[in-house]
Amino acid sequence: MRIIDLIIKKKRGGVLSKEEIDFFISGYVSEDIPDYQVSSLLMAIYFQGMNKQETTDLTMAMVNSGDKIDLSSINGIKVDKHSTGGVADTATLIVGPLVAAAGGMVAKMSGRGLGHTGGTLDKLESIPGLNISQTMERFAEIVNTCGVSVVGQTGNLVPADKKLYALRDVTGTVDNVSLISGSVMSKKLASGSDKIVLDVKTGSGAFMKDVEGAVELAKMMVDIGTLSGKETVALVTDMNQPLGNAVGNALEVIEAIEILGGKHEGDLKTVSCALASKMLILGGIFSSEAEAMAKINEVINNGEALNRFGQMIEMQGGNSEVINNTGLLAAADSIIEVKAEKDGYIQSMNTENMGMVALLLGAGRTKKTDVVDPAVGYWLKKRIGDSVSKGDVLADFYVNDKKNLEESISLFKNSVIIGNNQGKKIDLIYDTIS
Ligand code: URA
Ligand code: CA
Repeated sequence: MRIIDLIIKKKRGGVLSKEEIDFFISGYVSEDIPDYQVSSLLMAIYFQGMNKQETTDLTMAMVNSGDKIDLSSINGIKVDKHSTGGVADTATLIVGPLVAAAGGMVAKMSGRGLGHTGGTLDKLESIPGLNISQTMERFAEIVNTCGVSVVGQTGNLVPADKKLYALRDVTGTVDNVSLISGSVMSKKLASGSDKIVLDVKTGSGAFMKDVEGAVELAKMMVDIGTLSGKETVALVTDMNQPLGNAVGNALEVIEAIEILGGKHEGDLKTVSCALASKMLILGGIFSSEAEAMAKINEVINNGEALNRFGQMIEMQGGNSEVINNTGLLAAADSIIEVKAEKDGYIQSMNTENMGMVALLLGAGRTKKTDVVDPAVGYWLKKRIGDSVSKGDVLADFYVNDKKNLEESISLFKNSVIIGNNQGKKIDLIYDTIS
């Protein structure tokens, strides 16, 4: 078999066989097939697409490229959660403790920031002492004790995705249903949970910009999960503005603590509760949305959800006092108010650029070797549909290194569109696929 023949076949709209897809993935991981030929094949896939069988074969070839995690030493039904990525998407930090406090089990392996999107591991590492690297034995012990642990990947999980994602990122081939499905579902199937809840983002800050594409992606992933014997549910949710108000690692931890403690409302809480409710139902803890939601509200109000977060932090080596005193988190040198330059309504946001704003302030990486500053980012004060007057604060910027400050403020101002009509309220949850 030769990779050049597969490239030409896909270029002409042909269907790749399982053997051909296995050859491509194993040859790429073993470095027998070079980046330039895989780039070409990815672009052919991007334009010609893959059918459901090819996408399933791609996913399984990726799963088989590395280790599979065995979570059988953890009690109960483990339900995993995955977002396709966005800005101020702090849901994992909220959903994990919520589900645990309501009786579920969450053994989650998360990732770092990708492109303009934030990464759960970077957020967790802003908590003093917290260690995201745990042995399998300790990971199981933490989940068995407090119902939740969020760690980095252990072992050699889906090496095909590490290589492919890095290549897609620099070849303009990220936003394709089959390639995203393979990337997300291979990681979910390899990481050992019994059931999966997906949060498929759509809008200006998501990889899939339109709802139609996001629904197609959600259906593909739910089908692949179900065919592989893992019950999978997907919510299609909005990413036309940052989900929470905090963008930046320690700031997002603060928002999560406020939500878990019942002190903060908003879109991030709404989506987190919807995801937690689905996870509790899939996990067999509750049989209806109403029961699950009632329990979720109870554990927020009685402090149990926030306590679980503290317990998880403590067991992962962190200072759990942060749940009572967020002043223990890294603080920025200065807070700068960024103000509206005219009257009107917030009409839209370029959310992808708003993710880049936080990156420019130092909250993420523009290259692999960059060190993340936990303290920096911004706290959004206005959301789409809000009215503003000239001089109103749009956001508080938390700043240390000022080298990109001007650029980040101007990118922020250009990304928040103020106009004369209020516009229609955007949906938060567009669809549920099961
Ligand atoms: N998240 C992933 O893990 N992979 C993708 O391809 C896109 C989002
Ligand atoms: Ca303590």
